[in-house]
Amino acid sequence: MASLTKTLYKEGQSGPMIEFLDLGMQPIANNFADTADKDEYKYNLSVGFDPDTCLVSLMNKVDPKKMFNDSYEYRSSMSNTMQQHFENIAVRISVLFNPRKVLEIGSNDGVFIKHFNPQDVVAIEPCGNMVDVTTKMGFTTYKNFWSKDVANKLKNVHGEFDVVYAANCMCHIHDLSDAFSGVADALSDDGVFIFEDPSLASTVENVAYDQFYDEHQHIFSVTALYNLLLKEGLEIYGVEKLSVHGGSNRIFCQKIGGNRSGNIIPTLIEESKQGLAKLSTYKDFAESVIQSKDDLLTILKAYKDIGHKVICYGATSKTTTIFNYCGIGTDLIEYITDTTPNKQGKVSPGMHIPIVSPEEGFTDDVDIAFLGAWNFQKEIMAKEQAFLERGGSFITHVPYTRVVK
Ligand code: TYD
Repeated sequence: MASLTKTLYKEGQSGPMIEFLDLGMQPIANNFADTADKDEYKYNLSVGFDPDTCLVSLMNKVDPKKMFNDSYEYRSSMSNTMQQHFENIAVRISVLFNPRKVLEIGSNDGVFIKHFNPQDVVAIEPCGNMVDVTTKMGFTTYKNFWSKDVANKLKNVHGEFDVVYAANCMCHIHDLSDAFSGVADALSDDGVFIFEDPSLASTVENVAYDQFYDEHQHIFSVTALYNLLLKEGLEIYGVEKLSVHGGSNRIFCQKIGGNRSGNIIPTLIEESKQGLAKLSTYKDFAESVIQSKDDLLTILKAYKDIGHKVICYGATSKTTTIFNYCGIGTDLIEYITDTTPNKQGKVSPGMHIPIVSPEEGFTDDVDIAFLGAWNFQKEIMAKEQAFLERGGSFITHVPYTRVVK
């Protein structure tokens, strides 16, 4: 296990972080390339715990421009589950808050804002290809990374916002103090900040170490968010547990002293009981990760040895962490199928496993598919009944390595 004495100075925060997990040298998780590049950029993916705030973060920071640029592959609207998810929250926000002005931080392909009137929405997004998509849809979209400085510029042009929304975005931001303080500046006095990101409680419970990759600079517990937001003048008044992305939390905040009330104490107690404020929990988690790696390699090798054709279902960012940490290449997984046209014909980051469309690759000679997109297990199992009926099986590593039929 990694040395516990390794520390890192954190921008805008005090005290050292304690490293508990080392997932080795990793490429950019979403960097699907046309051909195998021997000189691919890699960084050491290690994870630490801050005993002051209880925040869990990557020890090293990858330059955001390497991850979020004009060739960003990830589309929020690529599955029915996520389409429905964003429609539901957009409708709820309209009904609950009737906002005059909504700001979305990290608008991706517009899956959330498309449910609003373009005049009522301002969007901010660093990836130029995504900015083009929402601009064409008629939405004012700024090509920027979120910061306190940008927040104040937007406020000067558009006034204060009644709702600030961000999905799977705040956990990408290195300097949370600056980011949350910017949200507080942009919000109207009775405004609401709603954001959702993968949950640390679910990550630990599922031994889902693949939630850690370059984009996920932090995996949030509600406990850590409570501590960090208070410092910037924001208080959490509501938390919802979501099943998406392998388990997420949706956080509802207002300015401190606002008139909305809700009881988040049960969530904080639950996290405390799970040990999310204790370093020992993360040391145990790191031990479980090693076990998970051993079990996955054993099962993949066993199937290969008896002549089965093993593929991977879903070229997720998460599989980049798994394949590079476990050393899984084309010797164990022949190829990956993925529905995203931009990923097809490319190779996976680091291990360079080819990616093909499901039509090309999810064929009758496939016996076993590793569930790279395990967070869509329900949707995929329902869709692939024919595969299961003819004796096909999925392998998943969450919450422990096993075959699912
Ligand atoms: P996602 O779960 O968002 O993972 P990450 O955030 O780790 O990148 O990505 C899901 C990927 O799986 C996406 O590339 C589309 C693909 N996919 C399929 O190929 N088939 C499916 O049925 C589903 C639901 C997803």
